[in-house]
Formats: sequence, structure tokens, C-alpha cells
Amino acid sequence: MSISQQFDLTGRVAVITGASKGIGKAIARGLAEQGASVVVSSRKQEAVDEVAAEFRADGFEATGIACHVGDEDQLKNLVDKTTEKYGGVDILINNAATNPVFGPIEQMTGEVFDKVMNVNVRACMLLANLCKPSMAKRGHGSIINIASVEGMKPSPMMSIYSVSKAALIMLTQSQAREWGSDGIRSNAICPGLIQTKFSAALWQNEQILDHFVSQTPAGRMAQPEEMVGLALYLGSSAGSFSTGGVFTADGGYMIA
Ligand SMILES: NC(=O)c1ccc[n+]([C@@H]2O[C@H](COP(=O)([O-])OP(=O)(O)OC[C@H]3O[C@@H](n4cnc5c(N)ncnc54)[C@H](OP(=O)(O)O)[C@@H]3O)[C@@H](O)[C@H]2O)c1
Repeated sequence: MSISQQFDLTGRVAVITGASKGIGKAIARGLAEQGASVVVSSRKQEAVDEVAAEFRADGFEATGIACHVGDEDQLKNLVDKTTEKYGGVDILINNAATNPVFGPIEQMTGEVFDKVMNVNVRACMLLANLCKPSMAKRGHGSIINIASVEGMKPSPMMSIYSVSKAALIMLTQSQAREWGSDGIRSNAICPGLIQTKFSAALWQNEQILDHFVSQTPAGRMAQPEEMVGLALYLGSSAGSFSTGGVFTADGGYMIA
């Protein structure tokens, strides 16, 4: 198989949570450009409809299905509707996440902990479990969990968010271990600082931005599009021997 065939996703179905903007939207577009039928999902139907329409206008196959990943019924609806429309799921990108409170760990309440873990970890497990039968039936599947460098190296004030991303990394490795024999791979992508709405509180503060940049050999933050290549590798046959991996895309932040 040529290298371009290895990256070809024609006939593949990809579900991307949190795909109305930022990293999720960039990855969804990349997968669609490589030939996948993409299901663009986030909490708001108008937002996902708009992105899906934008992709279709550019000649790609895309559908918008709203889903708050913290709601189990909506997760089930997302997989049911995807299966109805496209027959199953080959690639799952668990990308939606929340970080409602910046602050030290002693200020975190049980309520905040539950909210963060529900969206950032529990939802990723439940959604993958819902996709697993379809992937196992097809004999292949790729789960990509968008974790963070925070899951390996905590920053001040990111407390529970960092805890959730560490848990997501271990979820990834457990999935890889348990589902390898079904032909299902699971990998984590750990971005560094990416310029999106989610991270605005960091990069809009000059002092915090300077701190991150000074700790990053690349000397800058990144754009969401810089996460796409890794997702294409992991989602396609090009990454057929990669499973249980934790892949950084962080400008060198982890080794600095
Ligand atoms: N930006 C960074 O520096 C950075 C660094 C490391 C890791 N990450 C990770 O990258 C992922 C994407 O973040 P981003 O920076 O691209 O954020 P973003 O640009 O703010 O996009 C977040 C997306 O998630 C959706 N979303 C939020 N809560 C949701 C929920 N409960 N259910 C479903 N969808 C939800 C949002 O759409 P709606 O509002 O329409 O629902 C939006 O589409 C996250 O997992 C984040 O932890 C980001």
C-alpha cells in the first residue's frame, strides 16, 4: 500500500465530539479531507449544522449531531443516529472537555470534581463502549482521546483538569490493552498550549502566555490545525501498529 493509500480514509466513518470549533473542528475537517464521512458533534445543534454545512460546501461528507457528552442518553443517541446514517463507527475522537474552574486543589469542591470527571473521563469511556461493538464487528477501529500535557505534568491552578487528563491517558491504555484483539486501537494525543477559546484564559494573559512560551522549546503556542496530522496518522492505516500510545504535540514543552 502506498503511503497516500495508508492515509486514505475513504469509506471510513468518524465521530468527533466538541467539533464545532477549535481542535475538534480542525481534526474533523482533516478526516473529511482524507475521505471520511464525519459526524460533527457538540452541545448546540445550530453550531454543528453550520460546521457540517461548511464541510459539505467544500465537497466533503459531513453531518451534525448535537450531543452533550455529559448526558448518557445523548451519547447513545449520537451513536444510534450515526449508525442509522452511516452504518457504524470506525474512528472516534473523544475531544470535548471542560475546565470550569481555574484554581488550587484545596478550593475544588466535590461538585466541580464530578463535573470535570463526568465530561473529561466518564463520557469518553461510555462513548467508546457504545462504539466498540460496531468497531469489533468491522474488525478495526481507532479511538483517539484528546488528553493534554497537563495529564503528565501539572501546571499551577489546573488541578482537577490535570487529574482528569491523567485518568484519560490511563483509560486510553486500558482500552488498548483490552480491545487490541478486536482490532481496535486507542491512543492519546497530548497537546501543549493551543490557541482556542478553551485556553483563552491562559493565552490572553500576557504573564501566563510568556510563562508557557518560555517553557516551550518551539517558543510559541500552536494553532488547532497543527494537531491534525497526528490524528490522521492514528485514525488511518498509517498508524496500524500504534496503540496505547501517548503522543505529545507540544512544541517540546514536556522535555523542557
Ligand atoms: N487549547 C489547548 O491549549 C488545549 C491543550 C491541551 C488539550 N486540549 C484539549 O483539547 C480538546 C479541545 O479543546 P479546544 O481547545 O479545541 O476547545 P474549544 O475550541 O473551546 O472547543 C471545545 C469544543 O467542545 C464543545 N463542548 C464543550 N463542552 C461540551 C460538552 N459537554 N459536550 C459536547 N461538546 C462540548 C464546544 O462546543 P459547544 O460549546 O457548542 O458544545 C466546542 O466544540 C479538549 O479536550 C481540551 O482539553 C486543549
